[in-house]
Amino acid sequence: MAHFEKAKSIGDWLDQRLATKTLEKVLATEYWIPKNINFLWAMGMVLAIIFAMLLVSGIFLLMYYKPDVNLAFNSVNNIIMNEVGYGWLWRHIHAVASSVAFLIIYIHMFTGIYYGSYKKGREMIWITGMLLFVTFSAEAFSGYMLPWGQMSYWAGMVITNLFSAGSLELNGVVEWIRGDYVPGDAYLTRFFMLHVLLLPLAIMAIIGLHFGTLRIPHVNNQDGEEIDFDVESKKYLAGDTKGSKVIRFQWDFLSKDVFVLGVFLIFFFYLTFYHYAFALDPVNLDPADGLKTPAHIYPEWYFLWSYEILRPFPKDPGLIAFGFAQVAFFLLPFLDRSPNVAPANKRGLFAIWFWVMIVDMIVLTIMGKLPPEGIYNVIGAVAAWTFLILFALLPVVTMLEKKK
Ligand code: HEM
Repeated sequence: MAHFEKAKSIGDWLDQRLATKTLEKVLATEYWIPKNINFLWAMGMVLAIIFAMLLVSGIFLLMYYKPDVNLAFNSVNNIIMNEVGYGWLWRHIHAVASSVAFLIIYIHMFTGIYYGSYKKGREMIWITGMLLFVTFSAEAFSGYMLPWGQMSYWAGMVITNLFSAGSLELNGVVEWIRGDYVPGDAYLTRFFMLHVLLLPLAIMAIIGLHFGTLRIPHVNNQDGEEIDFDVESKKYLAGDTKGSKVIRFQWDFLSKDVFVLGVFLIFFFYLTFYHYAFALDPVNLDPADGLKTPAHIYPEWYFLWSYEILRPFPKDPGLIAFGFAQVAFFLLPFLDRSPNVAPANKRGLFAIWFWVMIVDMIVLTIMGKLPPEGIYNVIGAVAAWTFLILFALLPVVTMLEKKK
């Protein structure tokens, strides 16, 4: 057995047994971050904090929520909102955080795309990030079922119907997912289990993986510069902190992260107290009724772009296009054939590709919310085709790019 000296402090005692000082070095004080990054690199930390807020507010909601089709609606809209002290506050925090999480996820994703942070050496960061996107989406969808309002029921009906795979008519699969012919009690309790147990566990595990994948390649930087972290960290440790291109994660970088987080929290609580209504769809304030279809069924804003890729096409091609939209961003590191790691505005044609993609996703989002009639149908179809064509063109656009 190892020889244990008399410990001088609790820290020392723990270090002798768990090597906590080495751990602190590897994960924090000697985890090196490039200097030339901006506030967009704080979005990952903001996301981690939003997830923590969702967990805490979710735990409070869970104390009063009833996963039963006869009780769920009342437990949320009456008991939690009116009878439980500050129940309304936890609910508003939970609803606003789920919506804002997607805003920050999209900013975080498109920062990665703009600066080429998914390229050689960083593919696993991207892939675990996309896994987080998918599990977060499933988490949001399953949570949306729980208040058992009209939109919970009918959005659940529409989305589970997609699993019949169009003209393959796999109705057995749809019934298997629902546990019934239509969404009912079995359906609600299994989505409840997914929302409060399985998916949060999966998200926590994948966040751990995502952090792990950052350790070796390190984060990218604003210029896409290839930094020699060994050389630069030695410079820093030798006292040349000005000349070195890197800073310590703790506390150099963390102090900047905490500043951005502070600004974000002001924005977040402003929304929670004054504008929470945007995160609570009014249609969902009516209890679920399987005999009364709402005039217009649409998902929350963050799913509208992919919903709009489904809508303008006939049944089978629509499903294929929708399926592709779900996986398209996973393929980015492999479809981008240029070795250049640089901001999009220094990559010629890629800059056009990037900005057209952003505008296209905004148009798809707007059209997804509007009823599928007249001119909206035409604009929606053009935007959906543009999305698919952009991905088909990406290998060509990036192959034409001059090597740096
Ligand atoms: C939802 C939970 C997520 C959390 C908590 C999270 C957390 C983080 C953190 C802390 C960082 C390092 C600092 C930074 O660049 O912000 C990071 C980097 C990164 N994340 Fe995420 N992330 C999440 C989702 C995603 C998603 C959906 C993607 C996109 C597919 C993604 C792609 C990336 C990439 C490419 C980097 C590296 C950035 C660089 O090298 O400059 N992440 N993430």
